Amino acid sequence: MSSSTAYAAPTGLAAARATGLNKVYGEGETRVVALDDVSVSFGRGEFTAIMGPSGSGKSTLMHCMAGLDDVSSGSATIGDTELVGLKDKQLTRLRRDKIGFIFQAFNLLPTLTALENITLPMDIAGTKVDRAWLDRVVETVGLSGRLSHRPAQLSGGQQQRVACARALASKPEIIFADEPTGNLDSRSGAEILSFLRNSVRELGQTVVMVTHDPVAASYADRVVFLADGRIVDELHGPTADGVLDRMRRFDAKGRTS
Ligand SMILES: Nc1ncnc2c1ncn2[C@@H]1O[C@H](COP(=O)(O)OP(=O)(O)OP(=O)(O)O)[C@@H](O)[C@H]1O
Ligand SMILES: [Mg+2]
Repeated sequence: MSSSTAYAAPTGLAAARATGLNKVYGEGETRVVALDDVSVSFGRGEFTAIMGPSGSGKSTLMHCMAGLDDVSSGSATIGDTELVGLKDKQLTRLRRDKIGFIFQAFNLLPTLTALENITLPMDIAGTKVDRAWLDRVVETVGLSGRLSHRPAQLSGGQQQRVACARALASKPEIIFADEPTGNLDSRSGAEILSFLRNSVRELGQTVVMVTHDPVAASYADRVVFLADGRIVDELHGPTADGVLDRMRRFDAKGRTS
């Protein structure tokens, strides 16, 4: 099977899909091919982890698929919508309505309470908050008793849970999370991972998460491995040991991480 078909989910089931995606930064001597003919799809209601050495293109892939960065060529779709060629206004609306993004730095506003942070994107957009859904999200992330706290009054794990709740609150079609547990202790990290997994299992969310941690990846339904801007492997129903084993095999081929 060619790389363009190997990592594709059946047509119609994808929440997001990249087809022949290329991303080149710079020109001449500073030219970097960050994504090299990437074709991958992320199934609806599926939790996918993206792994690979530093510089392999993980963040670039997420940014291109979330419409935060332009692609050089190829196609990126969210649901049935092609991102490539969308006007700024349409892209902004698509990002607002269909995509949740959890950044490694939580990006919370310090002067707002947890609840105000969670509903901020919808308040800016003038979207009506679905109270029942919001209550469910808040309960799922375990923030019920903390809604009137400001970020400085919350632990790192709690702040990251606010960032997760913010991403979920508008019921996006897909959530992209770039190393959401990267700077958390293992207990807070486990809370976030359980939450993301629960949001997939119980709320039907679609989640794509970048991680360097085999234990974090084991919470996912599927792991996709990137190296040098290409998808080189995938693993279904991953265990931490299985992921480690796969990573060791890449290292043995001379990859650095
Ligand atoms: N704005 C940019 N300008 C030029 N090159 C860039 C830019 N952003 C990323 N790159 C390059 O593209 C490649 C992929 O970067 P990317 O950030 O996607 O890697 P990553 O897999 O997320 O790495 P990490 O695990 O360190 O976060 C790297 O070689 C990087 O130097
Ligand atoms: Mg990155």
